[in-house]
Amino acid sequence: MTKRLVSPSNVRTAVLLAGVAVLVSSCGWSLWDSPMTTVRPRSDFGKWIDEIFMLISWTTLVIFILVEAALVYACWRFRDRPGAPIPKQVHGHTVLEISWTIAFAVILLIIGIPTIRIIFKTQEAPAATDLRVDVAGKQWWWEFTYPEFKITTANELHIPVGRTAAFYLHAPDVIHSFWMPALGGKRDVVPHRINRIVLTPEVPGESVGQCAEYCGMSHANMRFRVIVHPKDEFEQWVKNQQAPPVESTDPLAQQGKALYTQSTCVGCHTITGISAGQIGPNLTHFGSRKSLAANMMANTPANVAKWIENPDHMKPGARMPNLGMTGEQSKALAAYLLSLK
Ligand code: CUA
Repeated sequence: MTKRLVSPSNVRTAVLLAGVAVLVSSCGWSLWDSPMTTVRPRSDFGKWIDEIFMLISWTTLVIFILVEAALVYACWRFRDRPGAPIPKQVHGHTVLEISWTIAFAVILLIIGIPTIRIIFKTQEAPAATDLRVDVAGKQWWWEFTYPEFKITTANELHIPVGRTAAFYLHAPDVIHSFWMPALGGKRDVVPHRINRIVLTPEVPGESVGQCAEYCGMSHANMRFRVIVHPKDEFEQWVKNQQAPPVESTDPLAQQGKALYTQSTCVGCHTITGISAGQIGPNLTHFGSRKSLAANMMANTPANVAKWIENPDHMKPGARMPNLGMTGEQSKALAAYLLSLK
């Protein structure tokens, strides 16, 4: 009896192969198009890492194909057949053993020399002309301070294209990891020491960043935005951040301002000229930010009001306490904060 083409085992195999194909194609898609992609670098640092990644990927692909081809050939050529003699044994073949030892040493050198070169290149000390940004990783948000401009902001990193930036990484609480996939930087942020990343952004545009070291309940929510500006645009941003915030005369916003100054908000947050708290993010130009709660959501009146009413619900473990604000109060506070451009 001949075997049916549509047997249950053939169907199972077909489904499995289709599944693998979908998985492979979706991985391919996310590798290129995901906001977290590392294979389209936008800085010198990112390009160096990408060079090593590509070198190792292509080298190992060639080795994989050669080894698999040799394996398949040996399985087929020396398969067991009735009456066939045992193939010639090559155990202890000195020339063969010396050759493959040398071949593997050469492969290690091909991978090792550029890798060590890039390791040193990515550890270079900053120059005095670099733009210094002090980065503080805190549970669960990022603070960015620019000593050159006397600016402190949170969760949105602004840097100019073409100027080398030196990030000094501080951890006031636990270990975090500062990662900007598109720019190639990833480095641990460790209490009691200051690690550094020095890189030059080469392409203007927005990308995302993420804490890459487990640091507690909202580790996954410890994100940030990276905005690489053309030179003029960056200068404009700096000027705006240095100026006192422009607040709205809108009655709701003014009501929010009164609430802010009378509540415990002032103990944790800084708004230049209003309050000088150091625990939470600096809110001086809060309304100029596009995202809220370390890039978890859009910075809209509805989201800000919801955040104020119950931070822990929006971001599990959030350090900001629930202040017991009602709907009307949180709306007024949101109007005030969003007016701070
Ligand atoms: Cu900070 Cu994970």
